[in-house]
Parts: sequence; C-alpha cells; structure tokens
Amino acid sequence: MNIILIVDDDTTSLKLAKGILDQDYRVATVNSGEMVFKYLEKNRPDLILLDLNMPGMDGVEVMEKLQDNPDYSNIPVIFLTANQDPQSEAKCLESGAIDFVGKPFVPVILQNRVRRVVELFGYRNQLESMVASQAEEIISRSQRISRMQDAVIIGMANLIELRDNNTGRHVKNTQTYVEMIITALKRKGMYPDILTDDYVSNTIRAAPLHDVGKIKISDSILNKPARLTEEEFETIKLHTLYGAEIVDDLLGEVEDPEYLDIAHDIALHHHERWDGTGYPSQLSGDSIPLCARIMSIADVFDALYEDRVYKKGIRPLSASLAIIEDGRGLQFDPVITDVFLEMADELREYVGEEPE
Ligand SMILES: [Fe+2]
Repeated sequence: MNIILIVDDDTTSLKLAKGILDQDYRVATVNSGEMVFKYLEKNRPDLILLDLNMPGMDGVEVMEKLQDNPDYSNIPVIFLTANQDPQSEAKCLESGAIDFVGKPFVPVILQNRVRRVVELFGYRNQLESMVASQAEEIISRSQRISRMQDAVIIGMANLIELRDNNTGRHVKNTQTYVEMIITALKRKGMYPDILTDDYVSNTIRAAPLHDVGKIKISDSILNKPARLTEEEFETIKLHTLYGAEIVDDLLGEVEDPEYLDIAHDIALHHHERWDGTGYPSQLSGDSIPLCARIMSIADVFDALYEDRVYKKGIRPLSASLAIIEDGRGLQFDPVITDVFLEMADELREYVGEEPE
C-alpha cells in the first residue's frame, strides 16, 4: 500500500485529510515542517501533502529543503492551501510542487489528485528501474563481449608466439610486466596527462598484440637457428609495420579509437629506442608513444629472463635487470627504467625466484 505523509499544523485539518485517504493508503501525519525531516530519516512516503502556511518552517521552506536533498527531491509534493489566489498557486508550483489542493478539502478532489499523482509516480519509478536494469544488462553484455574479444586476441597472439618461442609464456608474461609497470607509474603520479584510467586499461589489453605482425614473417627466418643475415634482420624488423597494419585491419571496425591507437602504437613502435636508433621510425625520447616505451622494457626483460632461466650458475633476475639498467636512457625511457628496477621484489615474486 502506498504511503502518504500529511504535514499540517492544524490538527482538525490533519484528521480530516487522514479520514479521506485512510481507506486507500497508509497515512502518516506530522504537524510541523521540522518533523517532516525527522520522519524522512526512517520512512519513505510515496507522496507528501504539505500545508503552505505553518508557523516555523513554512511549506515553501520545507519544499526547498526537500529539493536540495537528492534523496528526497524526487518525492512528489502536493500543497494544501487555504489561499486560492493565483499568486499562492504560482508560488506552490514554482517551488517544485506537482499540484495543490484547496482547503477546506472536498473529499473527491483530494482523493482524485492523490490517486493521480501516486499512479503517475508509480509508473515513473517503474520506468526508471526498467531503464536502470536494462542499462545494467547492456553494460554486462558489452563487458562479456569485450572479455571474449580479449580472449580471442590473447589466443591468437599465443599461436603466433608459439612459432618462435617454445615456452608459450611470452604473451602472458609481457602483459603482466606491462600491467606492473603502468600501475606503478600511475601510482607514483608519473605521466599524469597521459595515464588516464582508459589509457592504462587499453595498454594492458593491447599488450598481447605487440608481435602480431610476426604472422607475416616466414618460419625459415623466424626459427633460423644460425645468426640472421642483415637482409633477414631487415625482414624481421618489418613485423612492426605488419603488426600495425593487422591491428588497423582487424580491429578498425570493432574497437574504440583509443584502444585502436594504443594497439597500433604498441605494434608499430615497441622496438624504438630512447636514443633514436631503434626501428621502424627511429623515434626518440618522448616522441615514442608511452605505451610503446613501456612495452619495450617488458618485452626485452622477458626475453632476457627466459634466455637465462635455464642456464646454470647465474641469477636470471639480477642478470636481466643489470642489462635493463645498462639500457637506461639508451634503449629505455629512464623514468620507466627506474620504476622497473624498483620493482625487483615484485618481479622476483612473479617469476618465482628465491631471494638472493
Ligand atoms: Fe617485436
């Protein structure tokens, strides 16, 4: 049953209104504006009938206070007023009331107005909750689709990686390192203009695509056991250009532009070097997109570590980190290098190496 709160300092009037509405609603009554807010602390009426003229807080003041509070501002209010002049009526409506009813009450008019407003707001609330639940459904559906898309991307990247990397861990490892680095940069407040929440999550999602261009490099070069000739190395370098093309073709239709830009930049620029001697564009310093600078250190570190992990007599983590440190300001962004070196304990935990 809907709840109606009647507010009036005049007890006779309160009783009369309550008598008229009692049959169809649960009616609560208070006799001052101040009491309205005490009542609202524990109750939620579907409609408030509010006397305009009261000692202390008058109806308009109560109305203003209700409107100021987002918890109460959508409770409909009908004013009760003895002065049926146009100014009073205008004052009622301007203050945000839904309607007004003249005193003394005519039972059928009061019942009618109350029923109309209660029904109207009932529908409105239903509609609002329908919209909210549909919005929730749409969000969860699009999250499912994007999780599926990520799984397909990771699966595809793994397949490509398996051709020249028999551990099959490179995709997952590099994505984890990218996540660790970018989270640490964000936590430390570095590159605040670039590292929005979207940039961070897009970079982590796009990391598995960094070597997607290798799909166009022949097995004979990719898996050549001997040293590559200069020409073969030039061919390998093309995986960055191919990667960017594939990202654009593959994701251009389905992904949002920011994700696409980041995936493109990662695939194209993850072999650039801070000193400008990398490939394919010989970008240097800050002109290398941040996502690619992060990818670069994650990519190289994983290759170094995996190379050393099966060799006896060396500490793969510290040996790999020492090489990364040597590349500070030459191959790698110095800021990212410092953050990465500070992460030694976290990296040790991830790779499962015993502390030295
Ligand atoms: Fe690469």
